[in-house]
Amino acid sequence: MCDWEYPQPGRTRLILPQPIAIAGSRVPDPEAALLARLDADHVMMMGDNPALPRMPAKPTLLDFFRARFGGITGRHLLISADRARRNGEADAVVMACLLHDIANAALIRADHGYWGAQLLAPYVSEEVAFAVKYHQALRYFPDQANGYTYPESYHAFFGPDYVPPDYIRHDAEYARNHRHYLTARKVTIYDTYFFEDWPVPDPDSFADLLARNFRQPADGLGFDGSASAHMWRTMIWPNNFL
Ligand SMILES: [Fe+2]
Ligand SMILES: [Fe+2]
Repeated sequence: MCDWEYPQPGRTRLILPQPIAIAGSRVPDPEAALLARLDADHVMMMGDNPALPRMPAKPTLLDFFRARFGGITGRHLLISADRARRNGEADAVVMACLLHDIANAALIRADHGYWGAQLLAPYVSEEVAFAVKYHQALRYFPDQANGYTYPESYHAFFGPDYVPPDYIRHDAEYARNHRHYLTARKVTIYDTYFFEDWPVPDPDSFADLLARNFRQPADGLGFDGSASAHMWRTMIWPNNFL
């Protein structure tokens, strides 16, 4: 049995990793080997993977927090938002903190601010989507007047000589002159990790905030026909072959 094989009652299902997850790595692309295994007892993974928590038919944002946004990033989102709300920040700031890294929580890390903003745009205010998008670029640029310094962790992540690419520089400059700049800047201020010595709040403690600020679709995230519905479905079924 290979690493990408998931025996189940009935037929064994085979998972082909997303191309972007192994591109440039030393993980050998298993596509040819998996396709060679297809037979009456082996099919490609489609739909619910029993290895993952089952999502309800009409998922809410909190269902994603409970069943998909786990691990370091899931805790990081809850803690960032908790710190913001305990500091008495406005709903938009707390919302943006709660959602700023949802792309790297369960979809994709690269350019996570941009992916996250697109995921959220149909459901949150323009201000929240803006803050999610631009926090990524603003993280690289200190703003002493607002109490933000370059993160120590970025030295560890990227090395002390890292220079962000031009598009990050341009987008940070654009954000700095935007009317919602302070909302995005505040996300970067509450955006701490590794040193997070803070209890992880229950996702349900944000239910009232979400009721006021998140347009939860009646058909469920992923099934409402929005411009980003497919992105939510990809998080529900991340192992689908097609
Ligand atoms: Fe981020
Ligand atoms: Fe973050």
